[in-house]
Amino acid sequence: MPALRIEEISSHVGEKIELQGWAYNFRSSGKIFFLQLRDGSGRVQIVYSAANLPAEQWELLNKLRIESSVRVSGTVKEGRQPGSFELDGASFEVVQMAPEDYPIGKKEHGPDFLLDMRHLWLRSERQWAIQRVRNTIINATFAYFNERGFIKIDTPILTPTACEGTTELFEMDYFDLGKAYLAQSGQLYLEAAVMSVGRAFDFGPVFRAEKSKTRRHLTEFWMMDAEAAFADHEQNLKTQEELVCRIVKDVLAKNRAELATLERDVAALEKVQAPFVRLTHAEAVGKLRALGSDIGPLDDLGGDDETILTKQYDRPVFVEKYPAAVKAFYMKRDPADPLRVLNDDLLAPEGYGEVIGGSQREDDYDELLKRIREHQLPEEAFRWYLDLRTYGSVPHSGFGYGLERLVTWICGLPHVRESIPFPRLINRLTP
Ligand code: 4AD
Ligand code: MG
Repeated sequence: MPALRIEEISSHVGEKIELQGWAYNFRSSGKIFFLQLRDGSGRVQIVYSAANLPAEQWELLNKLRIESSVRVSGTVKEGRQPGSFELDGASFEVVQMAPEDYPIGKKEHGPDFLLDMRHLWLRSERQWAIQRVRNTIINATFAYFNERGFIKIDTPILTPTACEGTTELFEMDYFDLGKAYLAQSGQLYLEAAVMSVGRAFDFGPVFRAEKSKTRRHLTEFWMMDAEAAFADHEQNLKTQEELVCRIVKDVLAKNRAELATLERDVAALEKVQAPFVRLTHAEAVGKLRALGSDIGPLDDLGGDDETILTKQYDRPVFVEKYPAAVKAFYMKRDPADPLRVLNDDLLAPEGYGEVIGGSQREDDYDELLKRIREHQLPEEAFRWYLDLRTYGSVPHSGFGYGLERLVTWICGLPHVRESIPFPRLINRLTP
C-alpha cells in the first residue's frame, strides 16, 4: 500500500494507513508518545502507546530527534478539534535520524540568522504557509489569463538594453558583443509578441541593481508582465482590477488555513472588490500634502507616501497619470495634458504600496524616437522596438506585477524577504 499524503487522510477515517515525512515536534508522557509529523501537504499528530508498539520501535521513537525523516503507520481517527484528525500509531521507522543540534529552535531568532538558515527555515510552518499562498497566486494568474485569451510568451533574461531605469542594471561582458544586461522586465519583448498573438503575458525572474535597502526591494524578483494589442489605458486598468480580485478570491478560497497560520486579517482581504479607488497623481499629491507629506506637484510618490496614502483606504488604489518626467520613456502622453502619461501604479491597501506598474504605450514612431533620444538611450539598439511602430502600429497597453509584493501584501508580511524562497538583497546572496 503506497503512503498517503496528510491532506488525504480525512477520507480514510477508521482505516490503517501509512505516512512519510519529518518529525517537527514530539513529546512523551512515559507510556504515551505524541509525534507531530509534517509531510509537505499538512501536519498531523500520531499517538503511540508503549503497549501497542514493538519494543525496538518504541525504543527508537524515544531516541527521535527534531527534523528526522520518518515513516509511520496507524489508524486514522477524528481529533479533538472538529475537522481535525490524528493517527493511532501502529508502526514507526526512521528514514534518517537527524543530529541533536537542529539549528532552528523554538526560541526567537533574529532575521539575519534565519536568512542564513533559509534552506532549513523554509520548513517552518509560517514559511510553508507563505509558499503555498504564493503558489495559489501564480496559478490564479495563469488561470485568469488563460480564460481571457492571453498567451504565455517567454521573454529573454539576457538583453542588450535597459527596459526601466539605466541606473539599476546588472551588467556583464557578453563575448565579442560588448555588454549584456539582466532583464528588468519582459515588457518590450511582450509588445513585439502581442503584434503576433494579440494578448500575452510572461512570468519570470527579473533583476534590479537597486541600491535601496527597504522592506519592499529585492534585487531578483518574479515579475508577471501582461500586454494587449488594441487595449487603451481604461481597458488596462480594468484587466489589473479583475486580475487582482481573482487572485485574492482564489487565495481566500484555497488558503484559509495558511492565512490563519499567518494570522492574516482575512476581513481586510475580503474587502478587495471592484471598483478600486482611483486617483490621479495630482489628486494623490493633494491628499498627501494634506496628510503632511512634502511631496511636490511633479514628484514621484516615495515609499512613505504610498504607505500614508494606502492606509486611508481599505481597497487597492490606482494612482494614474504621473508626470512624464518621473516615468519610463515608452509611456504614452496624456492627450489632455502633455506633461503627464497614461500610466498607473496600483497600490495595495493597509500601507503596502505599489504592487503593479502599467501604462498605455507610445505607439507613434516619431514620438517614440523623440523619447528615446530625450532619455539618451542607444537608438540603434531600439531599432527593433521602433519597427513595431512602423509595421502596423496599434494602440496597446500593459502592466507588470511584482509577485513578491503581492505575496507580502496578501500574506500580511512585514518584509518582502519572506515572500520568496531564496531572497536576493543587496547584502545577501546566500544560501
Ligand atoms: O513598476 P515597474 O518598474 O514596471 C515595469 O517594469 C514595467 N515594465 C511593467 C510593465 O508595464 N509590463 O515594476 C513592476 C512591478 C512593481 O509594481 C513592483 O510590484 C515590482 O515590479 N518591483 C519590485 N519588486 C521587488 N523588488 C524590487 N526591487 C522591485 N521593483 C519593482
Ligand atoms: Mg513602478
